[in-house]
Amino acid sequence: MLEILKSIHLICLLLGGAASLGNAVLMKRVMASGAPPPALVADAMKVQANMGLGAVIVLWLTGLPMAAMTGAFANGGPLFSLKLLAATALLVIVPYMVWMRSQAASGRRPLDVALLARLSLAVRVLVVLVIVLAVLVFH
Ligand code: HEM
Repeated sequence: MLEILKSIHLICLLLGGAASLGNAVLMKRVMASGAPPPALVADAMKVQANMGLGAVIVLWLTGLPMAAMTGAFANGGPLFSLKLLAATALLVIVPYMVWMRSQAASGRRPLDVALLARLSLAVRVLVVLVIVLAVLVFH
């Protein structure tokens, strides 16, 4: 069971990492163009944002039972606590970014592109931090 959960955990890491890097590349070009993105690009960014959200949720859904099975909650130490803290920040930031996009798409409030770019950078830094901490704790 642990092997299955860990495989899903790592596949979601791939999915989330790919989505966040893909969106960062697109966002950089959209910002440089100084114009709203073409519909095709906006749609691709929305799909990637949703992929990232799904990945973070499944990382938690697989991580919690794995932590229970391996005793990581009791024996993971401060590095595991730090990993959980960074993963919690991702669980807040990523849905917030999706919400920002949906608000803009429905015309309720304009998209704060500068804030979105800062949050997107924070997500990439946090993902790298979580991976390094996971390797340090579980290698
Ligand atoms: C949200 C972003 C997350 C990322 C990027 C991430 C990444 C990783 C990586 C790369 C590993 C493999 C480490 C290794 O075997 O050397 C791992 C393992 C693990 N993760 Fe996560 N993780 C995340 C969230 C979580 C959460 C929220 C939990 C628990 C609540 C969790 C619990 C675990 C456990 C218990 C293992 C070790 C499984 C084993 O015994 O091999 N992870 N994680």
